[in-house]
Amino acid sequence: MTALFERIQEIRRRYPDELSAVMPALQAAQVEHGGWLPREAFREVADALDLTPAYCLSIASFYDMFRLEPVGETVVEVCTNISCGLAGAQGVVEAFERELGLHAGETSADGKFSLRAVECLGGCGWATIVAVNNRHRLRVSAADVPALAAELRGEVSNGDA
Ligand code: FES
Repeated sequence: MTALFERIQEIRRRYPDELSAVMPALQAAQVEHGGWLPREAFREVADALDLTPAYCLSIASFYDMFRLEPVGETVVEVCTNISCGLAGAQGVVEAFERELGLHAGETSADGKFSLRAVECLGGCGWATIVAVNNRHRLRVSAADVPALAAELRGEVSNGDA
């Protein structure tokens, strides 16, 4: 039995049934696989929860929190849903595209950065939300992006990247 299988059994015990446990199990698998879900992850989760890989893939492909392709060391996710959209999220995305030299949805050739435009990150009252490796930055504007990108590139450090 693998460590991931054991971890998923722990998760399963906290939920009334295996269907309820599938999302936290997928999250555990994503961590195990370095931030994304390769094909074998769906088999592992399915086996641990007595589900099918196709079912697990159907869940993962619906939610932005699950990544179906490899990602960079630093994953920058900009919420572009309605509240953030009204607060200027598209400008934030474009500013990151300029700063990181990537289009949204891409990973840099050196594997350092991935940039993603994602659906609601649950912080609608603090738009625009930018998640950097799942840590949320609040009220980010396009004007904030050059300094934030410099920080992420290691050019400056404020200790909370
Ligand atoms: S709309 Fe951006 S956090 Fe909800």
